[in-house]
Amino acid sequence: MLLPLLLPLALATAGLAQSPGCGKDIPSKFPSPGESTTLHLPGTDREYRLYIPTTYDKNTPTALYFSFHGATQNMSYEENLSQFSKPFFNKGGIAIYPNSKNGYWLSNPNANTSRPNDLDFTNDLLTHMEELLCIDKKRVYSAGKSNGGGFTAVIACNATVGSRFAAFASVSGAYYNTDDIPGVGPCQPAEREEGYPFLEFHGTMDTTAPIDGNTKSNPKLPVIDILEGWAARNGCGPGSKWARNETVFQDPLVKHASWGCAGKRAIVQHYRESEIGHCWPSTLGNGDFKQHPSQCPLGNYVFNATEYIFDFFAGYHL
Ligand SMILES: *[C@@H]1O[C@H](CO)[C@@H](O)[C@H](O)[C@H]1NC(C)=O
Ligand SMILES: *[C@@H]1O[C@H](CO)[C@@H](O)[C@H](O)[C@H]1NC(C)=O
Ligand SMILES: *[C@@H]1O[C@H](CO)[C@@H](O)[C@H](O)[C@H]1NC(C)=O
Ligand SMILES: *[C@@H]1O[C@H](CO)[C@@H](O)[C@H](O)[C@H]1NC(C)=O
Ligand SMILES: *[C@@H]1O[C@H](CO)[C@@H](O)[C@H](O)[C@H]1NC(C)=O
Ligand SMILES: *[C@@H]1O[C@H](CO)[C@@H](O)[C@H](O)[C@H]1NC(C)=O
Repeated sequence: MLLPLLLPLALATAGLAQSPGCGKDIPSKFPSPGESTTLHLPGTDREYRLYIPTTYDKNTPTALYFSFHGATQNMSYEENLSQFSKPFFNKGGIAIYPNSKNGYWLSNPNANTSRPNDLDFTNDLLTHMEELLCIDKKRVYSAGKSNGGGFTAVIACNATVGSRFAAFASVSGAYYNTDDIPGVGPCQPAEREEGYPFLEFHGTMDTTAPIDGNTKSNPKLPVIDILEGWAARNGCGPGSKWARNETVFQDPLVKHASWGCAGKRAIVQHYRESEIGHCWPSTLGNGDFKQHPSQCPLGNYVFNATEYIFDFFAGYHL
């Protein structure tokens, strides 16, 4: 009885992953495998950087990783910061670094909310990638820094766009109340069996996007509210507490918290990093440590957030 039921399911699952770009040659404007370049989304004034791995094969559906820059930053800075174009971290996936309109992403009060807005852009850019490259539609992921991390959460909250992404990661995310922001509104992801895997990193010395939020002119929500929100949406129920809270490094102290909800193990995870502020954790240091020396005085950190992000993403697909 079981076999005839399971087989068609498995076949249907395998068949869905291919995007319409499979079998097509890489467009001439696109980077050669192993390189990245700046491009425009046709019909718009929006820019992005695209990286194609050396292992890319036009007949093999490939994972796609989005990386969104922080406020006042840009796609080039983000590529150098997140290192998503480095095979050391990204083993065979395509990486894409969208550029904001004016330095800010939707949800930040300074962002340009006119349509097409950043959600429209993300949705259209993903469709464009799927049409021209051989993308594994089940393995599309989003990550970002600061406002880009907050925007990753905005994507996850949108039923149309968020449904196309398998998992989300936010480094030092800045989370605004989006209820009254035109084109965003309250967090209302589509229901889905896989749930919404969400990974968050935050330094306790962050004064730009403080871990406990702030009430300044552009108020930011406490990180715990965001984590508990995703825990609840993943079936943990409202007000759920961390399932685990373990020390992963002693000096500086790094705590790892995770929520397992409705049979989904560790679907929401958080690294609480002491002695670091608004910097993307990296053992070698990076542009952030130079930009925020007072918040991130160590000059580097005890782990690579990028490594943890790729490990987390590897555990999930649609
Ligand atoms: C991106 O930002 C960096 C500094 O963070 C700057 O040096 C560079 O010129 C900017 N690039 C673009 C294309 O704006
Ligand atoms: C805001 O975005 C719209 C749509 O992308 C664009 O046409 C407009 O020029 C932008 N406004 C400013 C002030 O940049
Ligand atoms: C979700 O994003 C889509 C694509 O940009 C947009 O058309 C839609 O209005 C958004 N939904 C909400 C509730 O904001
Ligand atoms: C988890 O650890 C952090 C840092 O030590 C602490 O602030 C928090 O209260 C702990 N939470 C729980 C539920 O144990
Ligand atoms: C690029 O990253 C390297 C190390 O990861 C860092 O030393 C350098 O300052 C960064 N460049 C910019 C323009 O941020
Ligand atoms: C962090 O990444 C760098 C490459 O950017 C690598 O050299 C280093 O070994 C990594 N550190 C750890 C602890 O994995």
